[in-house]
Parts: sequence; structure tokens; C-alpha cells
Amino acid sequence: MTLTSVQTAPFMDQKPGTSGLRKKTRVFMEDHYLENFVQAIFEGIGGVKGKTLVVGGDGRFYNDRATEIIVRMAAANGAAKVVAGQNGLLSTPAASHLIRSLKTDGGIILSASHNPGGIDEDFGIKFNMPNGGPAPENVTNAIFEVTKSITSYKMYQGGTVDLGAVGYSALGDMQVEIVDPVTAYVDLMQSLFDFAAIKKMISEGTDIRFDAMNAITGPYASAIIEDLLGAQKGSVVHGTPLPDFGGMHPDPNPTWAHELMDEMMGEAAPAFGCASDGDGDRNMIVGPKCYVSPSDSLAVIAANATVAPGYAQGLKGVARSMPTSAAVDRVADALGLECYETPTGWKFFGNLMDDGRVSLCGEESFGTGSDHVREKDGVWAVLMWLNIMAHTGKSVPELMQDHWAKFGRNYYSRHDFEAIESDKADAMIANLRSKLSDLSGQSFEDLVVETADDYSYLDPVDGSTSAHQGVRVVFKGGARFVVRLSGTGTSGATLRLYVEKLDLKNFDQDPQTALADVIAVAHKIVQIEQFSGRSTPDVIT
Ligand code: G6P
Ligand code: ZN
Repeated sequence: MTLTSVQTAPFMDQKPGTSGLRKKTRVFMEDHYLENFVQAIFEGIGGVKGKTLVVGGDGRFYNDRATEIIVRMAAANGAAKVVAGQNGLLSTPAASHLIRSLKTDGGIILSASHNPGGIDEDFGIKFNMPNGGPAPENVTNAIFEVTKSITSYKMYQGGTVDLGAVGYSALGDMQVEIVDPVTAYVDLMQSLFDFAAIKKMISEGTDIRFDAMNAITGPYASAIIEDLLGAQKGSVVHGTPLPDFGGMHPDPNPTWAHELMDEMMGEAAPAFGCASDGDGDRNMIVGPKCYVSPSDSLAVIAANATVAPGYAQGLKGVARSMPTSAAVDRVADALGLECYETPTGWKFFGNLMDDGRVSLCGEESFGTGSDHVREKDGVWAVLMWLNIMAHTGKSVPELMQDHWAKFGRNYYSRHDFEAIESDKADAMIANLRSKLSDLSGQSFEDLVVETADDYSYLDPVDGSTSAHQGVRVVFKGGARFVVRLSGTGTSGATLRLYVEKLDLKNFDQDPQTALADVIAVAHKIVQIEQFSGRSTPDVIT
């Protein structure tokens, strides 16, 4: 028997979060755990009979075995074809590109993104739609429903799956195509950016440090930045994807990419520094002694994108997640572009891009991207910055100063309080929600609350509503804070406090100093210490 139906019982904790199902790796390795969820994906999307799927992941521990399981289950469920990255590897944006460019019926991406990897760390899985973007909530809910009542899954037991060999093979009646994970993506980047101009700039002395954090972008960055653009060998560091990311926490922010930050803040800093995350969709941009906040990066890109050939015709519109700063709104205003605000989660941008309303999107959580794929894209953001530098002739610090001088500076910071006990975090949010209606008009020192609400999003394209997407407290004059619980953690709750304040004159303050009063008031209103016992954040970005 090659095709078997395996008896199973539901796991009651398979509800997808912000970006698919994320759990400890060992949980996924339990008997039937991954298989149940994969079968639920297949059934939740209406079956895979005759369909073509892309499969790949960020190379973390269990990626290879999980890829083979998915290929076998796809064959057993009657799929016509699976396209998998060689050795099961695909960055998230590269997977999105393949799903779109090959006109497939969607794909499964294996990743826990920026979370650490390894047998004792995190693993994840998500389904992306035929448009290349993460499944919307109606689909993830349908998948979740199946997980709650599943009694069996289908597995193709015979044959061999050789993920290492690029080319075609078959598993039963299903065709298997193994592709080089980098080639198609590199072609796409070359169609969007002025590689000749960037190459010239690099040859004239702009040196680069790309920290791939032992994760998936290593091969992409080496191929593009070193081989094609001519940056010195060694410009890409931590460039070999490792199952445990070499112990690194592959989250490109100042806390976790501290090696890069130390170098960029030092005397011998290269002209341009950048990092990407576990699965290659996040990015951080840093100049010499100049950290670019993701919200500012989005705004700078919005203001300058037309220098890149792929965007020369102008942007259709822009979008940012609600907690992301309003820096991009100011650019959109000046350029007469529509600017959309969505809940946290890249999936909310998909409809806007598919509907032709926006071509550029970004989030404070180090995500930036465009409608070239339906995921955020770390290497894309890096190339966009290099293209802007090449065409303007300006350094990162010069670009930032010029930007603020023109649009003002939205001082911005996010404070994370990690691994709070879930019931305490829930109680804190419930308490905050209960007092929102009384907050308006209240004064806290110099800050007067203008509005306070629990953010709800009405998708202008499909008319769906997503409620309880974060509490917003806006002060007179435009300063604000936002509070929400992370949807991507795997243990306990992470409280995120986002603070913002616009300054039209002073651009050189430390953001923590500029925002100190708003932070203090946020602590007071949210009662963070009373509920969580925490007074200082674990991570500041
Ligand atoms: C993932 C999603 C992003 C989201 C981020 C933070 O990277 O793709 O869209 O902004 O997680 O989510 P969280 O719920 O942890 O704040
Ligand atoms: Zn990621």
C-alpha cells in the first residue's frame, strides 16, 4: 500500500495566529501534529485534487522532514504537482513569487519567521493563496475548523522524494519539481532595480554589510550583493543557513542584530548596513551611526521609490499597519497618494494590492515590500535603499536628515514586554478596554487625550471587519500610543507598546528622550506594572 489513510484525533490548539501556526518544534514533531494541520489546510481550502502547490521554508530544524511530509500528503490527496525549493529551502518572498509567477493554486511555507530555530525552539507553517499572500482569516478559520474534528489524514508512503536534486520526478501520479530557490527571485529583483547604478556606486567605494543571521537570505544576498553587484566577498556575514541559525535569534532589530549594530555605530562602519530575518521577509536598514526605524524606512521609500525602474511610473498608493508611525502618511499627503491603515499582519495588505489600490506597504515590525509579491521582502527593501542611494548620491544619514527637514520627524519606538503570563496580559487589556470611553478629555501632565478606542478595520475591498486589533490612545497635537498583544509568540503573551510623536523642528533627539512623556503616560493608563509586574521592556526598537 502506498496510499494510506492514517487514523488521528484532533489537537485543540491548532488555531493559526498572525502568520500561520507557530509552536515549539517538538510540538510539531509529535505524532500526527504536523500531518493533522497539513490535512486541515488541504481540506480547508477545498481539497488539492488536481492542484499545483509550492512548498518550501527557511531551513530551520525540521524544515526538510516537514517538506517531505507535505509533498507526500499532497500526493496522497491527489495534487497534480508540487514545486519545492531545493533541499526544502525558499525564502518567504521567493515562495510568494513562485506561487504567483507559476500561476499555482497556492503554497505552504514552513517558517517561524524571526523566532529562533532548533529542536527546542520554534517552528511554523502557513498557507499562502494563489495571489502569493498569506491566507485571509476566513480561510485560516476554515482550516482551524477542520483541525477540531479531523479523524484521519492521507499519506503517500512509497517512492522517494529527493529534495536535493533540481529537476523533475514523480510521486505516484503527482509531478514533483525541485527548483533552485534563488534564480527566479534574482530575475525578479533585476527587473525592478537599477543594478547597473548600484554596481557603479559599490565599485566607487560604497561598502556594505549584510547580516543574514545564519538564516535563509544568505544565498540570496550572496548571489545578488556579492556576485551580481560586485560587493566585496565577505560583505554578507552569517551567510550560510543553519538549522538552529547558529544560535542567533534571527530578528533584524537593534537588540538581536547587535553585531551589525555594533559595527554600524563604530568608527569603521561601512556605508550601508542591513539585516534580514529567519525567512527573509523582514529587514533592518542602518547607516553609519544612523539607525533607520522601519516606519521611517517606509516613508523614505515612499518619497523616493520612483528612482527605481520598477516604480518609475509612480506609486498607486501606500499602506501601513495601524501601529506603524504616520511618517508615511505625511509623504502620501505631499504626493497626493492614497494612504491606507490596516491591522497588524501582512495579510491585510493583500486585498489592497490585488485591487490595485496600493503598491507599497510597510509595518513597524521591520516589514517593507511592494506589489511585486504578496509578502514583505527583506532583500527587496535593501535593494530599494541601495537604488535610492545610487540615484540621489546621498548617504543613509543624509537621506534621513533631508527627509525629516522636508516632512518632519515622527519620533517612534516600540517597547516589548515578553513572556507575560497570558491571564495577566488578558486582564490588563480587558481593564484598559473597560476604561477607554472615559479617557477622552482627561489630562496627564501636558498630554490631553483626544481619542481612545479599540481599533477595528473595515476592509474596503471585501467588506470584512476585523475587530479588537489594538487599543489606540491619541493625544491632542497628534502624539499617541498603541497597545496590543503579539499574535506571533509561542509562549505566554508579549505586550507591545508603540509610542509616537511628531516634531517639525528638532530632529536629533534620542527617540527614548523625545518620547519619554508619552511612554510614562502609557504606563500609567495601561497599568503595566500593576498587571504584569514589569516596568522595563525586554526589547526596544
Ligand atoms: C509577522 C507578520 C507581520 C507582523 C509581525 C508582528 O512578521 O507577518 O505582519 O507585523 O509578525 O506581529 P505581532 O503580532 O507579533 O506583533
Ligand atoms: Zn519573517
